Amino acid sequence: MILIKLGGSVLTHKDKEYSFRTNIAKRLVKEIKESPLEEYVIVHGGGSFGHPGAEKYKLNSSEPLNPKEGLARVQRDMRRMNNRLLDVLLDEEIWSVSIPGGLITIFDEGELESIDDGLIERYISRGNIPVTFGDVTIDKKRGVTICSGDDIMKGLSKNAKKAVFVSDVDGVYKDGELQKTFTQEMYPLESSDHPGSSGKIDVTGGMNKKVRKMLDISTEAETYLVNGEVKNRLKKILKEEEVVCTEVKR
Ligand code: IPE
Repeated sequence: MILIKLGGSVLTHKDKEYSFRTNIAKRLVKEIKESPLEEYVIVHGGGSFGHPGAEKYKLNSSEPLNPKEGLARVQRDMRRMNNRLLDVLLDEEIWSVSIPGGLITIFDEGELESIDDGLIERYISRGNIPVTFGDVTIDKKRGVTICSGDDIMKGLSKNAKKAVFVSDVDGVYKDGELQKTFTQEMYPLESSDHPGSSGKIDVTGGMNKKVRKMLDISTEAETYLVNGEVKNRLKKILKEEEVVCTEVKR
């Protein structure tokens, strides 16, 4: 199984609420469609549908504000975004089914405790493509918390052969240089390492957190960060062709 995370940075305009980048989504979906026949799970992030509400209700903190309202509203916002992606997938006749991340995960103090992948497996075995996404979920201590798409990638990685993170950067940078391979010894990153990633709202926090999760995932699956804003990079990774990207390897 191949896991593809379409980041909120590529699917939405992060600085404009509820703005879905339909054209980019269409192209990425076509690139997936043109790739070798495989079992895929698509995961997407929140971008400007999920993060503003998550921040407003402080859903990623130990004391969320108005958690019942926050849970309801931000779940609704994420389902809106998910429907936008489903429209694109179904237009391409990729028979996708939606499995909200908030309904298959349990968190404890903001950390993923368990993921119920049974539903995902059942849809895969029927030949449908599960599409899951970052969401608001139940947290044993905090009541509610944010489940990021990256958490879901981690939770599903034990059954994956490849985990591809599609973002708006060419890969992971160290000392301003794009790295073909990023290993444990290069972690953590300094803010000066990565050009152009600051100043955007992202409650699930920054490149270090992403890279940390990718390092964990890489013990289970080949793990890549690739720029979805550049045509054919995702397709090339899926076809195992040479392409600008970073492979993260523990
Ligand atoms: C965040 O998911 C989900 C919510 C804020 C509800 P991600 O953290 O995976 O989203 P992106 O990819 O960074 O936008």
